[in-house]
Amino acid sequence: MTENAILIKQGAEARVYTAPFLTKKAIIKERFGKAYRHPILDKKLTARRITQEARSLFKCYKSGVDTPVLYFVDMENSKIYMEFIEGKVVKDLILENKEIKKDQLAEKIGIAIARMHSVDVIHGDLTTSNLLLRDSNKSLVVIDFGLSYVSSLPEDKAVDLYVLERTFLSTHPNFENMFAEILEAYAKNYKASKEILAKFADVRLRGRKRNMVG
Ligand SMILES: Nc1ncnc2c1ncn2[C@@H]1O[C@H](COP(=O)(O)OP(=O)(O)O)[C@@H](O)[C@H]1O
Ligand SMILES: [Mg+2]
Repeated sequence: MTENAILIKQGAEARVYTAPFLTKKAIIKERFGKAYRHPILDKKLTARRITQEARSLFKCYKSGVDTPVLYFVDMENSKIYMEFIEGKVVKDLILENKEIKKDQLAEKIGIAIARMHSVDVIHGDLTTSNLLLRDSNKSLVVIDFGLSYVSSLPEDKAVDLYVLERTFLSTHPNFENMFAEILEAYAKNYKASKEILAKFADVRLRGRKRNMVG
């Protein structure tokens, strides 16, 4: 690994480091394969994830969603270099439940998802661990685009919303009304949201039925 890199998170498919990059503090995300997968397939999957992450980061950035600035993609070594965000993870902010302006935060999240979906980026893992709030200007930052893809289908966008709702139900059960506020801001700031919200109701229903069956 790069000199002076400090490991901050060891995940199942990626290691996240902080390290200096040129004159700045950067995040390096290194993807690695799974031992049980066929090596050629594995290399392909890893490469695809990296390409998806870099592409979506850039697409979102252009659409006005605050995301880490992409510095460098090192395909050979399966690494992405990006801006280090000085901020706090939304999950922790809500769990600590202090000094947060809940309705403002909900509005920021709704607007960010609306912008992201308006350029057809589906995040794929929309949880409160993948949202950060910048210390400097309290801007909401979306991270972790490794499972993202491009789709204009209302159903895919609805599933993105559903994943976030599940996070609120499981991780922030006392903040269910916050998810309702997120949806409200999403609808208000996204012209095409009507069809998506109709699909969302279907997806929810299906989810509930699945839960009942087991
Ligand atoms: N650009 C960034 N700036 C600051 N912290 C980051 C950044 N990217 C990731 N992190 C931190 O590392 C954690 C894991 O990164 P993430 O991209 O979500 O990888 P994973 O696939 O392991 O979830 C995040 O939850 C966040 O705390
Ligand atoms: Mg993550």
